[in-house]
Amino acid sequence: MKEFIFATNNKHKLQEVREMLDGLVIIHSLAEIGLDGDIPETADTLEGNSTQKVQWVWDRIKDSKSNIDGIFADDTGLEVEALGGRPGVYSARYAGEHCTFDDNINKMLGEMEGKTNRRACFRTVICLMEISDNTNSAAKYFEGRVDGVILTERYGKEGFGYDPIFMPDRFAVSFAEMPLEVKNRISHRGRAVAKLVEYLKANS
Ligand code: IMP
Repeated sequence: MKEFIFATNNKHKLQEVREMLDGLVIIHSLAEIGLDGDIPETADTLEGNSTQKVQWVWDRIKDSKSNIDGIFADDTGLEVEALGGRPGVYSARYAGEHCTFDDNINKMLGEMEGKTNRRACFRTVICLMEISDNTNSAAKYFEGRVDGVILTERYGKEGFGYDPIFMPDRFAVSFAEMPLEVKNRISHRGRAVAKLVEYLKANS
């Protein structure tokens, strides 16, 4: 089975993606390969940030002979219509440097108070760099998107990030009220990973 590094420090993302790629590829976390530290994400697009995360890992492993077949990373943004598409690529630090998920939700609920247009979407871009004989290939990109609304208060305890205040279309519950396998089937990241899976199946 091919072995990939998922360039994230987010244990929730790791669990989601591991579940989706189970039986198809082996996924190594950064911790498992002994890489720690903050991965930079200073680009102004999701594509740019996902590429930056992959490149950060490649720079650290390229001189060591390893059996790794590829590195991938995702970057996600929450785009809210009434906020002109904000926070978008800046979703992680929406409420400021070193803010928590809770700080971000509080800021979102505040900015959205009284707004009647509550339409929003999550967009994920996955960057994949394949490696063969210690040589890296050009990056490939897989995008997923889910549309829904920003709720007026928190619902549910599952998931992470903005999950308690996002309700996807055709559902009557927030992402944080869903079992992980349901969220994975319909979410932005789930849809991007499905495209990655299609690619990996066609090319293995
Ligand atoms: P990242 O830069 O891809 O890690 O994500 C940017 C921000 O979006 C972070 O604050 C995450 O909490 C949030 N985010 C990413 N994915 C999800 C998700 O599946 N549900 C809720 N929030 C998410």
